[in-house]
Amino acid sequence: MKTIKKIGIITGGGDCSGLNAVINGITKTAINTYGLDVIGYRRGYFGLYHNDFQVLDLKAVSGIMHEGGTILKASNKDNLFNYPVKQDKGETVYKDMSDVAVANMKKEGVDALIVVGGDGTLTSARDFHRKNIPVIGVPKTIDNDLPATDVTFGYNTSLETITDALDKIHTTAYSHDRVMVVEVMGRNTGWLALEGGIAGSADVILIPEIPYDINKIVDKIKERDRMGKSFAIIVVSEGAKPVGGEAHVREIIEDSADTVRLGGIGDIITRQLSTLIDNHEVRYSNLAYIQRGGIASQFDRMIGLRFGVEAVHLLMNGGTGQMVRCRGREIEHVPLIDVVGDGLTGETSHGGKKYVDPKGQMVRSAKSIGISFGD
Ligand code: F6P
Repeated sequence: MKTIKKIGIITGGGDCSGLNAVINGITKTAINTYGLDVIGYRRGYFGLYHNDFQVLDLKAVSGIMHEGGTILKASNKDNLFNYPVKQDKGETVYKDMSDVAVANMKKEGVDALIVVGGDGTLTSARDFHRKNIPVIGVPKTIDNDLPATDVTFGYNTSLETITDALDKIHTTAYSHDRVMVVEVMGRNTGWLALEGGIAGSADVILIPEIPYDINKIVDKIKERDRMGKSFAIIVVSEGAKPVGGEAHVREIIEDSADTVRLGGIGDIITRQLSTLIDNHEVRYSNLAYIQRGGIASQFDRMIGLRFGVEAVHLLMNGGTGQMVRCRGREIEHVPLIDVVGDGLTGETSHGGKKYVDPKGQMVRSAKSIGISFGD
């Protein structure tokens, strides 16, 4: 393999807290330990395609560890292996434009990439590895849905935000004897709703892995009434679905690696409950993008930093086509294909997801303390 002298960082997909800690860890290790040059592509793969980057030196990454977002900016579009290209007649066709990215890297003398992202971004990382580009992935997403790692960075800060929001919603729910429906993100997995909901003392948690029956939610509210508790908190994952139904799609974004955007199920449930319950007002809050922003938690700073440091060590020890991951308290690594699938059997991008086990210990613990899942 060619000697690595210069590396490029990409932060792709939706942003989250902890990204800057990763950039900090990569850049400082690359410069201090290996004497490498480091650049960061702006707006993920968009920057790689347009050769838009900034030089990262020790000064550029100083003081950024706690900051939310990413100094490099992010984009959850721009799949360069299926990229929208305008034709002469105005129509758009999707083409593999990854050679443009490889040519840009060659022009700038970039020998390897460290790609920080969720399943869509890491699927492209796998494909760049197949084009003989040395690549290491770093697992990022507030959804915590990537397989092969105990945890992704960004998830913990979002949980803190959800828990804090639920604490606040609790007091107003109590004062007004209201049923409060709180929608959280998570795509097709229920980790944010589950862990945030338990810590925030939710009475009902609805997750995609356990389809709900609206009448069971009403039963729980009535049960609380009988106990003398005249309010309730219902945490709904954006991907939650009724028994026999589908998740509520908010939008389709064609040029995104993951085209489907969920959202709005909390509003639907609120309207339904309003017609089924006459002794409480029902109100709805969607926590939406506040779950993605803000100062990174101590956990996300640490795990992000350690992922970044280990990604560079792995690359410089000959690793490629791998993703750093967390197992217990250690940072290890795993082939990218074990995370996103090999993509060779028909699927266009993603491999498996890490789902909540409906019969697992965490759900059982929640049920033990009386939380309803609407099942
Ligand atoms: O994957 C992270 C995430 O925040 C999901 O929880 C959410 O469904 C999605 O991204 C929102 O995407 P966008 O930023 O395109 O609206």
